[in-house]
Amino acid sequence: MADNGDGGKDTLTIRDNRTGREYEVDILEGDVVRAMDLRQIKVEDGDFGMMSYDPAFTNTASTRSDITYIDGGKGILRYRGYPIEQLAERSSFLEVAYLLLKGELPTQNELDSFVHDVTFHTYVHENMIKLLEGFRYDAHAMGMMISAIGALSTFYPEAKDVLDADVRWTQIVRLVAKMPTLAAYAYRHHRGLPYVYPENELSYTANFLNMLYRIGVKDYHPNPVLERALDVLFILHADHEQNCSATTMRVIGSSQADPFSAQAGAMAALYGPLHGGANEAVLRMLSRIGSVDNIPAFMDKVRNREERLMGFGHRVYKAYDPRASIIKRTADEVFQVTGRNPLLDIALELEKIALNEEFFVERNLYPNVDFYSGLIYQAMGFPVEMFPVLFAIPRSVGWLAQWQEMLEDPEQRIARPRQVFTGAESRDFVAIESRG
Ligand code: SDX
Repeated sequence: MADNGDGGKDTLTIRDNRTGREYEVDILEGDVVRAMDLRQIKVEDGDFGMMSYDPAFTNTASTRSDITYIDGGKGILRYRGYPIEQLAERSSFLEVAYLLLKGELPTQNELDSFVHDVTFHTYVHENMIKLLEGFRYDAHAMGMMISAIGALSTFYPEAKDVLDADVRWTQIVRLVAKMPTLAAYAYRHHRGLPYVYPENELSYTANFLNMLYRIGVKDYHPNPVLERALDVLFILHADHEQNCSATTMRVIGSSQADPFSAQAGAMAALYGPLHGGANEAVLRMLSRIGSVDNIPAFMDKVRNREERLMGFGHRVYKAYDPRASIIKRTADEVFQVTGRNPLLDIALELEKIALNEEFFVERNLYPNVDFYSGLIYQAMGFPVEMFPVLFAIPRSVGWLAQWQEMLEDPEQRIARPRQVFTGAESRDFVAIESRG
């Protein structure tokens, strides 16, 4: 048993009052106990033993991780120890991607090499274009992306060799590089426009904007303010520890499925309106409210649980999401170029009410990363269907960093939770004529 050196022991003593027996279990680093240490608690020797019960994993650590640290009470977010505020101010998305994937900030040579590798993997096989052309003109971009990323696994069968670090790294570079290309193609499909191929002399975000918006001109030069704003948004969305989609990536990856198939699953999880689909839901909500005058009636519905205030609340943050603060500042810079989004007035009034009203304060409902991001995307010309895709592009880096860490973790095995069975006891089959 661990001894903490102060005379007290880092253990829990558990007394089972059904039997009077006491058990001592270690308290591990991070103030956790191993759930498997509960299995020794039994009434009869032949019992399975005790389990922990935690629907939605609200109080369960599924892994150790070195990647991202969040202090939800203090609104702290760090990637590999670096505060998100400093990275958003001083770094670039691909430099942050390298940090998340490799664990350290790159040297200039390391960054140049990584940017080169990503740049030269931005093309997709022409068959992928035929796949995308099979979708209806009004297909949701996220549905197209989930299919496209899953389909990439058929082009790179060697990706199944997930235990080879070099093979893993090649697939990671491919996914980081190809997400913007496929996202731009999905957008052009939606608009009925010809696809614009990647340009290698452009930056990651400039190339993305080029593939999205170049029409009828040879050279496309995105507004530098918008290019930088998108890069900052990508930094802010890159990772967020064990969120729903990252957990999905880890669970699928734990069966040793290839990273393209795992990422398709993670994207499906992100698509939900409670997760990365919230940025789209926020814009639809603001549009439905339509005017500041309609806010009181809407808030009544929220209090009565007929509506959910999308873009507010978080499982971990019980303070202002630090990303939301940075996005709010970035919005001001974008609106100086694009013109102010009229829905901003509604958003600011909703925030003012939510930050001061008891219903929201007692539930720790603060704006999260999705509340203001959509206002920027809309002002930049993106349709709402693209908003979850704009979340998925940078989050690919976080998913892949988490996936890689899971595979390298000797404690990890195939994910297979238990259940508490509450169904029917054993019963005999009944012939159909005797039923009902
Ligand atoms: C992301 O996990 C991550 O890190 C995610 C993310 C990332 O970077 O990966 O940060 C990205 O997904 C941000 C969250 C985006 N989603 C939304 O904005 C959708 C709206 N918010 C929620 O639905 C909700 O707040 C969640 C899903 C974010 C968190 O849900 P929880 O932790 O399960 O909390 P809950 O649903 O149990 O709510 C607790 C209470 C409830 O009140 P009671 O019914 O018990 O009285 O708060 C209420 C809820 O009704 N509540 C809300 C609310 N969010 C919670 N009420 C109104 N509006 C809301 N937005």
